[in-house]
Amino acid sequence: MKILISAGPTIEKIDPARFISNFSSGKMGYALAKSAKSLGHDVVLVSGPVSLKKIPGVKTIPVESAAEMFCEIRRESKDAGLVIMAAAVADYRPAKFAEQKIKKSSDRMMLELEKTEDILAWLGRNRRKSQVIVGFAAETENLIGNAVKKLKAKKLDWIVANEIGKKDRGFSSDTNAVTLISKEGYTTEIPLMKKDKVANKILKTVICGK
Ligand code: CTP
Repeated sequence: MKILISAGPTIEKIDPARFISNFSSGKMGYALAKSAKSLGHDVVLVSGPVSLKKIPGVKTIPVESAAEMFCEIRRESKDAGLVIMAAAVADYRPAKFAEQKIKKSSDRMMLELEKTEDILAWLGRNRRKSQVIVGFAAETENLIGNAVKKLKAKKLDWIVANEIGKKDRGFSSDTNAVTLISKEGYTTEIPLMKKDKVANKILKTVICGK
């Protein structure tokens, strides 16, 4: 099966010297890609800027912004059986890119931001019948409640509820602990373990379709 995975942060440029981004390391998405490859699938990884090694045998498409990620995901998702959005896509980008470096002047400055496309919601709206769509919910509070809201709002098959803001899980750690929730309400807890093991369990569960 062709499996499409997104990983890492996106960066949204303000001017030639600055950008807005987040703390995503890409480790969870890369672990998913590695695991999917080792299970014998045809894997495409759309990756934001990360400092991780390329995975042999995985077609990796580097992108920077949410707009670029959207473009690649839209193209690659056409024939993918499973799509997993593990990337921490920026929700907002600067409304205008300043061609010249913005000079400091007043003590305060306002930066106008506009919403980016919600790639996962687009996938949920435009899926093929047999396509399985999996999202992540990065939360600091009300983990399960917020994750279920995203599962429904974005019309997903599965959501991976992932607490962030702690040292042993979430964005940059080598370990993670998540709860997988299906649209039918099936829930499976994956306790704290290395991200490659978490990845393996996520893939086996969503592929078996419990
Ligand atoms: N996502 C996306 N496109 C965006 C924002 C998020 O595809 N512009 C995807 C992420 O890859 C993830 C899921 O949506 O799989 C949830 O992302 P998250 O940051 O947890 O939530 P948001 O939908 O951005 O909502 P909020 O920031 O309000 O929690």
